[in-house]
Amino acid sequence: MRLTTEMFFQLNLYKDILDHCNDGINVVDTHGILVYVNEISANYVNLTREEMLGRPITDFYPAAVLLAVLKNRQPILDKKIHFVAPKKYAVNSYPIFKDGEFLGAFSVFKDIQELDELNRKIKHLEMQVSLNKPEEDMNNVVHLGTMRDIFKQAKKIVGSLGGPRHSIITGESGTGKTMLANLIYNYAKKIGVIGQDAPFIEVNCAQFTNPDIAAMEIFGSVEGAYTGSKKKKGLFEQANGGVLFLDEAHTIEKYQNLLLKAIESGKIRRIGDTREVDINVIIIAASTKNLNEVFLPELYQRLGQYEMYLPALRERSPEEKEGLFRYFVRKYEEAVWKSRKIDYHVIFTPEAHDALLSAVYPRNIRQFRDVINYSIDASSPLIEDIQDKKEITTIVELKHIPFEITDALEEKSLHRLPEVKNKITPVVEKQIAIMQAQGMGARKISKGLQYMGYDIPYYKVAYYCKKQTENK
Ligand SMILES: Nc1ncnc2c1ncn2[C@@H]1O[C@H](COP(=O)(O)OP(=O)(O)OP(=O)(O)O)[C@@H](O)[C@H]1O
Ligand SMILES: [Mg+2]
Repeated sequence: MRLTTEMFFQLNLYKDILDHCNDGINVVDTHGILVYVNEISANYVNLTREEMLGRPITDFYPAAVLLAVLKNRQPILDKKIHFVAPKKYAVNSYPIFKDGEFLGAFSVFKDIQELDELNRKIKHLEMQVSLNKPEEDMNNVVHLGTMRDIFKQAKKIVGSLGGPRHSIITGESGTGKTMLANLIYNYAKKIGVIGQDAPFIEVNCAQFTNPDIAAMEIFGSVEGAYTGSKKKKGLFEQANGGVLFLDEAHTIEKYQNLLLKAIESGKIRRIGDTREVDINVIIIAASTKNLNEVFLPELYQRLGQYEMYLPALRERSPEEKEGLFRYFVRKYEEAVWKSRKIDYHVIFTPEAHDALLSAVYPRNIRQFRDVINYSIDASSPLIEDIQDKKEITTIVELKHIPFEITDALEEKSLHRLPEVKNKITPVVEKQIAIMQAQGMGARKISKGLQYMGYDIPYYKVAYYCKKQTENK
């Protein structure tokens, strides 16, 4: 016997199919009484179908979209519903008409809790990736004050006619050494000194506990060079044609000679090998220590022709700190845009802004960045409260800043509230300047001020801004 379309309907096979499909299905009459429920739908509310049939749908699904369809006789598509949290489903509902007569409605729904959670996790990850993604271009990071000269020098290292040179970057932890090494590499690629697919090999020299293993990792080895050693390409060879970034370079004391030889001859020999391999690598050595005191003088001379010292955050000018502050705030706003397509505006109250900029950061720019991100996180709305908003403004206040920072401030400055609410006081002026620097126009600034409890109409802000530019 062959299955035909007629048989399919005669045998009511579609009922079996509805029972076995992965989505929940409910059908109601014009009074909202259930006339059909499939297995999935019954399971969803932990009941049997028999317990549900003939009863109002609202007994089981209090927010049933079907009720609205019964009322309006129009389909409702892709409506997302929170059942009892955290259960969540997406539903499509349609009216049922037969020969023009309205008979009821049916809905097909899909459990999206898992999907939703997965989506949330992906968005969170996207946000983190975006926040921590290293910049590729020197022009995109903060190049004010000291950094301006450092970037000039960095460009010379790879871009001067004499050819790319090796270099040393020193500075306390979190001052931007790894970032600078990456920027140098990208610049070298940009100007064609190295190929577009040139490698950037980063080695944390402090990770090796044993100097022999370190030497094999860096220079490679042949089988049996040491007990159990294998034939292996070293990091030097892997970096051929590109950049070898030796981080924590002060810990390489034991194999400085090998390094010096490699630099002088342009060749390396794998540990235990007799053959030499040509290498063409730009070395960038970074350290929190003064390498002049640690390295062999010849090695220091070879690498340190270009030495760049990255000052600690406390040694940088207020202008540069302000630049970094704005940079991280902008990065946060961009990350929200990238992961959620929300136009996000972050505004700091003058108290919060001053507290952040005057605090002490032993772990330098990295800690500064983390504290800024943390404070914005703390002031931001919950994801479940955002709903479908496309534009959000958040105000970061003193209370959002981590304790370790605010504790260091004087008690009296903690609760300094603005007394005058409708005048452009010096505090407001400062706030306007911050928002202007973030590229906000008068309307947005006025709205931002409103969030902060000030009542200054946009035309007043516009007038003030105009006067400011005229006076410049
Ligand atoms: N001029 C700058 N503009 C923008 N961001 C910066 C600047 N300098 C540093 N940063 C940021 O500061 C953070 C810390 O920098 P990085 O990791 O390069 O420091 P580091 O000196 O390598 O630290 P460590 O010694 O701990 O390895 C990074 O997020 C980096 O992007
Ligand atoms: Mg680093």
